[in-house]
Amino acid sequence: MTNKEHWENIYTTKTPAEVSWTETYPKTSIELLAACNAPKDAAIIDIGGGDSLVVDSLLALGYTDISVLDISAAAIERAKNRLGEDASKITWIVADILDFKPTKNYYIWHDRAVFHFLTTTLDIAQYTQLVGQCVRNMVVGTFSQNGPKKCSGLDISQYSTRTLAQTFEPKLHLCDSFYTDHHTPFGTIQNFAFVRMSVK
Ligand SMILES: C[S@@+](CC[C@H](N)C(=O)[O-])C[C@H]1O[C@@H](n2cnc3c(N)ncnc32)[C@H](O)[C@@H]1O
Repeated sequence: MTNKEHWENIYTTKTPAEVSWTETYPKTSIELLAACNAPKDAAIIDIGGGDSLVVDSLLALGYTDISVLDISAAAIERAKNRLGEDASKITWIVADILDFKPTKNYYIWHDRAVFHFLTTTLDIAQYTQLVGQCVRNMVVGTFSQNGPKKCSGLDISQYSTRTLAQTFEPKLHLCDSFYTDHHTPFGTIQNFAFVRMSVK
């Protein structure tokens, strides 16, 4: 099964309550996004947004240039259906992040539980190069070294806040970092490392 097939299968067979990453309110992401002090018309992209509620919160906060990218068309379809009329306010991109060719710069790049799926030096370097090219502020959350070793049945790379920040330095510099526990819909705990970084 390819990576895309894996994710299409997840989003066509499982409900939000059946996947570990679901959040009823994406508090950590929204707080870190707010800390970037972006103007309301700043370009913001949610990488691997799936059907996360980050986009709903950004709309509610008045942001007007929001993009959501995901490898799964089914995930994007779900998010569009959930948003109803508001879906037309969002730029939806169905793409593998490693094939994404941005046509503009992003004031904020948000990635929760997507970057950690990259496990080869080459893929990680490609992602960091992409970020270095088009991003002013970045919020990334991955499983920490005390978190799970797999996500959705796939191998992941664990990070400490230090190793996560180091991956994007010196192009970006660290503004904030911490660990936080995510409580899954089925009552388990996943420890995340989050960093907020920006260009100097
Ligand atoms: C663990 S889920 C996290 C979803 C969302 N960010 C959240 O926090 O609720 C991973 C998401 O990344 C997407 N994804 C996985 N690999 C990807 C890739 N190479 N390019 C783009 N999206 C990817 C999946 O379809 C899925 O929606």
